[in-house]
Amino acid sequence: MTPSDVKATLSFSDGSPSMDLPLYKGSIGPDVIDIRKLYAQTGKFTYDPGFLSTASCNSTITYIDGDKGELLYRGYPIEQLAVNCDYLETCYLLLYGELPNESQKADFEDKVMHHTMVNEQMQFFLRGFRRDAHPMAVMTGLVGALSSFYHDSTDINNPEHREISAIRLIAKMPTLVAMAYKYTIGQPYIYPQNNLSYAGNFMRMMFATPCEDYKPNDVLVRAMDRIFTLHADHEQNASTSTVRLCGSSGTNPFAAIAAGVACLWGPAHGGANEACLNMLTDIQKQGGVARIGEFVSKVKDKNSGVKLMGFGHRVYKNYDPRAKLMRETCHEVLGELGLQNDPLFALAMELEKIALEDEYFVARKLYPNVDFYSGIVQRAIGIPVPLFTAIFALARTVGWIAQLNEMIGDPEYKIGRPRQLFVGATPRDVKPIAQR
Ligand code: SDX
Repeated sequence: MTPSDVKATLSFSDGSPSMDLPLYKGSIGPDVIDIRKLYAQTGKFTYDPGFLSTASCNSTITYIDGDKGELLYRGYPIEQLAVNCDYLETCYLLLYGELPNESQKADFEDKVMHHTMVNEQMQFFLRGFRRDAHPMAVMTGLVGALSSFYHDSTDINNPEHREISAIRLIAKMPTLVAMAYKYTIGQPYIYPQNNLSYAGNFMRMMFATPCEDYKPNDVLVRAMDRIFTLHADHEQNASTSTVRLCGSSGTNPFAAIAAGVACLWGPAHGGANEACLNMLTDIQKQGGVARIGEFVSKVKDKNSGVKLMGFGHRVYKNYDPRAKLMRETCHEVLGELGLQNDPLFALAMELEKIALEDEYFVARKLYPNVDFYSGIVQRAIGIPVPLFTAIFALARTVGWIAQLNEMIGDPEYKIGRPRQLFVGATPRDVKPIAQR
């Protein structure tokens, strides 16, 4: 980061000493005001719950321009990566900073595909869950449990341990998600097959049975792979910030990623794709397109507590570029499956059209985000709704790891420890219980 020749001066109307604050410039995007010395020099904290104006770190991985609706992974536009690269190439890019050449890609794929099996003991963790457990409850448990099998590589400060943990996590997430799914439907687990593509192997583990193999359809596999790419990383979102904060204590990579899984589960974050599909299904049940107006009125009524799931974003105040790519993928998949007239897709497009013309959404710059169409694609592929967020976690694992490794690799990093504005009781004495 480059020191700016502009300074910020903080002064107080009560005559307290003013303070010069240095500014730093990034390669693109907003400058930052360095407040690291603020408390030491003024005895005051900044106050920014929700971190609306706070940069928690400097990073070289992902850049988002919310106003333009741009998303870059290591400088490459998501639109180009989604069309010209596959997910494992994108993983390589996010982890190492450059797209792989042929031999680097082949070597990376070989490494990942030869770590897809999990220890046979992992299946016994699943037995503790009810069959109807939410897959994200299972995944939070399984990912944390992985650390118990790799005591040889849990030192997050050791670059080799970080490297092998990254490969293991990227390789094993599809196996764990497929196991979580098979467990809920009472079918036996399907072992990975190393000669399949990453996405093809995942779909086979999901849909094959010992009695009948599953030949992945190339269009569906490509769509699944693109869904992984579109969800791979997204700057300092809630789950990534959770992984960074958790990892800053020096815990092992598996525990830090498990914390990210837990955070992603929330309906305001990764759980929105499941919530969005359920929202569309509910509108469909109540009459479909004819009921959109009534639903949108509810959304605009603050007292209803109803949100248009899959819409809005803390950073994007324009169309989420991933939503556009997901809508195209919807067309491809539904076309391939002869479901062009899928009523939910028609409903989603009509709902999007109406919302984008409605002053409530326009004034608040609410546009479709990555979750608005992803549920329709996944449902068409045959993914059960409760598994959508687990697939989001599968895809985001590489982004979490890349961000965690970037933090640990920064010599300046410290354990994260925010402060507070205390508005509670001032010091008082405990009275004997008879006097309370
Ligand atoms: C993801 O951070 C990331 O990068 C996340 C993500 C990633 O890849 O990691 O992009 C993945 O989490 C996408 C977002 C998925 N969530 C949803 O689709 C849930 C629905 N969206 C909202 O809950 C909301 O838009 C958030 C949480 C996404 C963003 O909320 P903010 O930035 O805190 O904005 P806000 O809640 O303050 O909303 C501003 C205004 C408010 O109205 P006013 O108080 O100004 O009158 O817009 C309204 C909100 O009520 N609003 C919505 C709305 N989203 C915001 N009103 C109706 N429906 C919505 N979806």
